[in-house]
Amino acid sequence: MLSKRAQLLKPSPILMLAAKAAEMKASGLDVVSLTIGEPDWGTYEPIREAAIAAIREGRTKYTPPAGIPELRKAVAAQVSADLGIPYEPADITVSTGAKFVLFSALQAIIDPGDEVILVAPFWASYTTMVELAEGAPKIAACDAASNFKLTPELLRRALTPKTKAVLLNSPSNPTGMIYSNEELRALAAVLKDHPRVVIISDDIYNRLVFASKGEVAPHILRAAPELRDRVVALNGASKSYAMTGWRLGWAAGPREIINAMSNYQSQSVSCASAISQYAALEGLRLGETDIAKTRQLLAQRYDFIAGELAKIPGLKVCEPQGAFYIWLDVSAHMGKTASVGGRPVKLTTTTEMAEALLEERQVAVVPGIEFGLDGYFRLSFALENSKAKIACDRMKAFFESLK
Ligand SMILES: Cc1ncc(COP(=O)(O)O)c(C=O)c1O
Repeated sequence: MLSKRAQLLKPSPILMLAAKAAEMKASGLDVVSLTIGEPDWGTYEPIREAAIAAIREGRTKYTPPAGIPELRKAVAAQVSADLGIPYEPADITVSTGAKFVLFSALQAIIDPGDEVILVAPFWASYTTMVELAEGAPKIAACDAASNFKLTPELLRRALTPKTKAVLLNSPSNPTGMIYSNEELRALAAVLKDHPRVVIISDDIYNRLVFASKGEVAPHILRAAPELRDRVVALNGASKSYAMTGWRLGWAAGPREIINAMSNYQSQSVSCASAISQYAALEGLRLGETDIAKTRQLLAQRYDFIAGELAKIPGLKVCEPQGAFYIWLDVSAHMGKTASVGGRPVKLTTTTEMAEALLEERQVAVVPGIEFGLDGYFRLSFALENSKAKIACDRMKAFFESLK
């Protein structure tokens, strides 16, 4: 009965793992989940109040497909300040989360067989989204030697006459690594020789930079403003304003692409929730003070969890510069045997390792293979230190028990 497209579809493995952990919790097990990429603190108070006011005042109707004019204006102002290039409201489209905005960007630019360069390790949804647009993911495999970042050499090797787009993500999910201005300039120098290639920059974590005093992460358009006509910059309210469930994201880019995305959105979801749009508008107006507190909180939580992980033999933390993930090298334990429900299980992949950890010690993590590179776990540290402590104690017991 199913279309080829539906047969291609895998459910998001991260959401599945999170669901399995929630199921175990519901059955009475005391599970600690380090899986999901979402803040554990609430949406900031003024944002919630703005949403309530929108409901009370009846601002609850369909909106234009590209978003309410006030929000597009506020996003244009923020993007202009972040990227150092002027953007107008007409250069902005708003929709239901950065995830769908990325989906519509790919639908707008990809023809069957077009290649999209993805930098591994990458956010798990990228490959499926490219495939759903009938494009071909072209993986540029990075490793610890380049801090899991794309280098000019790797980019050159991945580019072919079929390349339509390259997808960058900084700070990165899953590694938390940030490209420096110089690194971005070097990538831009390669891309200058490939004028047909669109650059999609997923900037969803750009305000969550630990060392920041208010400035956002470096951006390819700051490094090379001359690429403006072919960069689509994605962002949204989920991570910066703790608004994951409100489903609100946006893109800034060349008007031709932005208009095509808005048309795609108008024929699929119509528009983002009106209430979420008014709420995000308040975030853009007032959010920076709360974000500064969030950055501090994340830096403290990172120090805490990194200290606990350091007590576990054989693990190596790849120190993140932003976002809220730890990319944990567990390769020293691959090939060992765990006892799962009394049975010996050889751990040849991180999927098996994560399953054994969940079954035996009730700690949920995401195996690195889901991000295109095995030998690592991704841990989210957007959780209280007391929970992180329990998770690390259990992980210590788990890894020490391996034979
Ligand atoms: C790298 C990256 N991009 C985009 C998104 C999408 O965010 P949202 O759809 O909640 O705006 C996420 C969420 O986890 C992400 O990690």
